Amino acid sequence: MKRRFQAVKGTRDILPPESALWNRVEQTAREVLAAYNYHEIRLPLFEETEVFARSVGVDTDIVSKEMYTFAERDGTSLSLRPEATASVVRAYIEHGLFQQPGLTKLYYIGPMFRRERPQKGRYRQFYQIGAEALGPSDHPAIDAEVIEMVLVFIERCGLKGAALYLNSIGCGTCRPTYVELLRRELKKVESRLGPDSQRRIETNPLRVLDSKVEGEQPIITKLPSILDHLCAACREHFEHVQRALKDRGITYQINPRLVRGLDYYMRTTFEITAPGLGAQDAICGGGRYDGLVELLGGPAGVKGIGWALGTDRFLLALSSQQSAVSAEALDVYVAWLGEPTRREALRLARRLREKNLSVEMAYEDTKLRKSLELANKLSARYTIIVGEDELKQGKFTLREMSSGQQQLLTESELREWLKR
Ligand code: HAM
Repeated sequence: MKRRFQAVKGTRDILPPESALWNRVEQTAREVLAAYNYHEIRLPLFEETEVFARSVGVDTDIVSKEMYTFAERDGTSLSLRPEATASVVRAYIEHGLFQQPGLTKLYYIGPMFRRERPQKGRYRQFYQIGAEALGPSDHPAIDAEVIEMVLVFIERCGLKGAALYLNSIGCGTCRPTYVELLRRELKKVESRLGPDSQRRIETNPLRVLDSKVEGEQPIITKLPSILDHLCAACREHFEHVQRALKDRGITYQINPRLVRGLDYYMRTTFEITAPGLGAQDAICGGGRYDGLVELLGGPAGVKGIGWALGTDRFLLALSSQQSAVSAEALDVYVAWLGEPTRREALRLARRLREKNLSVEMAYEDTKLRKSLELANKLSARYTIIVGEDELKQGKFTLREMSSGQQQLLTESELREWLKR
């Protein structure tokens, strides 16, 4: 017996008709993003490991245990991208995009890789649609616009019940003081925390706030809130973001525990959840990363904000609300009857396909009954019958499959009809 292969754990194939839904969602994203003046950037799937280590942070789960890292022949460490914000910033600096006036608005669509424990809504190769706005301004109106944009996309796709959670995690001035305070408070309750949270007291105390461990929840709710420790500038920024959201009629809930799992964030952070997903219910995460361009060797003073939507989870949520996708319908089945009609049928099929109609036809001579059965199986809307009698008159029989009605048409009449 020959060995049969399977897709690697945590990866999967997206087959038709599901792939049609993916295309539809990605197409909607392109339309909405273009409407907000965002333009596509196509990025490599791997980078020098250092790009992610420096931006996402060496103590984060993503960098410390989830990256697919391998050595180039010269010893350079490379990694499959676990996310794309770092790559966007690398490219922004490399190509001097900061010389453009105003904001640079970019979006990307594609796979990311994280070695996480696979489960529903969590894969090792997963897909994101992401947007980033970089430039000299950190005006709160940008935060609000970026958030509005993803909500408009979600709404246009028809997903119901998405909820927006908002927080500010401060800046280089106020956060270190808060983190120290948090560490001191965490040490007092250390013995009651699980091993992950205990470890994070030293490495990344903010991440304890993000813990999902049931038994830790009563302890975490009593910890000091970052929102009570923002500096004046961060407080004003956060209040302004909220006013800007209200101006746009966007509802949100503040969640002071929303710290996100990547180190580059400062000030605004947000997440969007969707119903029907169980534990992995975050369909989108994002926030402001004002220091990141400088951290990766770019000029000081460039600000950035963006989000990434997890397409896999988004589609899971969408499919739980909408009826299953049906196979994409076929426009026309061309049935030819007997060798003399084959050439005419081939020519017709090609002409129709040039008009972007989806067309199927038999490769070998097939009886009419069998052809009609096949056309039905393929959910063809029409069958065009190319028979010898028709050929003599320079006409074709057009059969509407739902009603069984037939009419005899010339080619130009046929094309007129199908156009309608
Ligand atoms: P993130 O929160 O790590 O942020 O990922 C964004 C979204 O990607 C998540 O909300 C989730 O829907 C999806 N996601 C993450 N990991 C997985 C997985 N293993 N399987 C399936 N879906 C997953 C970022 O990646 C940031 N780069 C977002 C950002 C852009 N911040 C600023 N700009």
